[in-house]
Amino acid sequence: MSASGLWCVVPAAGRGLRVGGDRPKQYLPIGGRPLIEHTLDRLARHAQVAGLMVVLSPGDELWPGLASMHGKPVLTAPGGAERCDSVLAGLQALPDSVGETDFVLVHDAARPCVRLADISRLIELAGRGEGGLLGAPLRDTLKRADPAGCSALTEPRDLRWRAFTPQMFRRGALSVALREASRRGVTVSDEAMAMELAGHAPLLVEGAEDNIKVTTAADFALAEFLLGRTAPAGKE
Ligand code: CTP
Ligand code: MG
Repeated sequence: MSASGLWCVVPAAGRGLRVGGDRPKQYLPIGGRPLIEHTLDRLARHAQVAGLMVVLSPGDELWPGLASMHGKPVLTAPGGAERCDSVLAGLQALPDSVGETDFVLVHDAARPCVRLADISRLIELAGRGEGGLLGAPLRDTLKRADPAGCSALTEPRDLRWRAFTPQMFRRGALSVALREASRRGVTVSDEAMAMELAGHAPLLVEGAEDNIKVTTAADFALAEFLLGRTAPAGKE
């Protein structure tokens, strides 16, 4: 682990189509402040986060132009068509001071409720090996739907996890894995999937389930409630 801390790539180049707002969801307000600022605020508060690389849609005119947060540098890079393209672009744009074997975090702009203690646990546990991700074991019964929307069968729940972010991997290994997935024509939905395809087994680190990804319009009220309850008490 670098003594100066880890950089965090924050993909924020999506269009927020499922929310269907008048602007991409990262710029819609939660408690009077754009969603993305809540997320960046939390990340920058973490003592082991050295800087933020925010990946924006090319031509984004809503980005507030933040240059630093809590004394940490905030840089930006243009993203791509898919989330995985944006993450790779962010990795490439990291400062040269971030070595190929240094760990980096990747965290969705759309997850403002992440807890600092969970970031600490991820860094501590996944940093002992080759990286990992926050997630949670599936708790509900899992159904396979048929085309008519009826429950065709019940899937086994054991060993099934939901994947969250942050995810933490070494800069070089993750870049190689994302490039290789892209070369094979696979659109990976998270970093761990790229690493799995490359033959790695990322560590699953259990985190709080209120680390929600704001996805629909209804999620904004929930995120506002959760942000009020899980306000970070200063630096962790
Ligand atoms: N993202 C990105 N580049 C893309 C697509 C998504 O950086 N080409 C980011 C989003 O901004 C978000 C995160 O990846 O912070 C998770 O993606 P998702 O929740 O799917 O957000 P959107 O793609 O914006 O939403 P939707 O799929 O509803 O359009
Ligand atoms: Mg999307």
